[in-house]
Amino acid sequence: MKPLPQSPLTKLAIIGAGSVGSTIAHSCIMRRLPVQILLNDIDQKRVEGEVLDLSDGTFLSNTTVTAAQPQEVGQCDIIVITAGAKQRPGESRAALIERNYQIMKSVLDGIKPIRSDAQLLVVANPVEILCHLAQKLSGLPHNQVFGSGTVLDSARLRVELADTLHVNEASIHCYVLGEHGDNQFVAWSAGHVGGTPLLGFDEMKNIDLAQKSQAVARKAYEIIDRKGSTYYGIGACVSLLVETVVCNTLRLLPISCYDPKFSTYVSTPAVLGARGVLRQVDLPLNQEESQAMDKAVASIKAITQKYH
Ligand code: LAC
Repeated sequence: MKPLPQSPLTKLAIIGAGSVGSTIAHSCIMRRLPVQILLNDIDQKRVEGEVLDLSDGTFLSNTTVTAAQPQEVGQCDIIVITAGAKQRPGESRAALIERNYQIMKSVLDGIKPIRSDAQLLVVANPVEILCHLAQKLSGLPHNQVFGSGTVLDSARLRVELADTLHVNEASIHCYVLGEHGDNQFVAWSAGHVGGTPLLGFDEMKNIDLAQKSQAVARKAYEIIDRKGSTYYGIGACVSLLVETVVCNTLRLLPISCYDPKFSTYVSTPAVLGARGVLRQVDLPLNQEESQAMDKAVASIKAITQKYH
């Protein structure tokens, strides 16, 4: 086993060593993040196998990876929760709530006491609802409980727009908002490329915006139909979120965070750093987009209120 580097690495717990959790770990290793990964799962043999396999790639970085028991997890700096049932072909993320609420409750009970300054990063679906419930169950402040939200959906959209506009996706600022689910929507009117309104580009005049939005919302279903589950996209996005916290890069990302306007978690642009969610940035939405946000919020609240 490699000796730990002198400077204490950020302790990153990943609960769930399935395809999503192990891909998140792999993405962190490949990005050379300064983290000590503690991998946990109810399937101890799976954890051991993933740790042995992931360790073979750590020669590329200072990242370390070990198996962890629940009591170690609660004392980590960042706790990523991927444990949960995954969508079956054609199944919505919202349909997972009963199973995944029970798993979330069991997981959080198992890792208590949780460090009062820990950051809880929820990935399991339905992510906004599970964030809301994780905050209630953990008792951590709202700013320390957040989720992967529509970071992946927005990345899917921007990659498509980059191809349309022949511009690097990093220069395209356009967000999928609301929920990482069927009620997501694209804030087209607030999109811009280097300060120029996105919809002002000639190439956008030939785009069916509704069809483009629907294609992004359906992407996971298409992948699941073909290979059974998704993990590379979410793994890349969560490793970006981990880097944003660990390195305090203060990125603005459409994460699942608590919005006091709605008194619930919703996917909306927020600044993320070492102390979790620092601030939200409300985009100027047009009437259609505001109505779509209200619809997403109503859907989230209708489900969360059944659980507390
Ligand atoms: C997806 C899963 C992470 O959208 O919900 O790929």
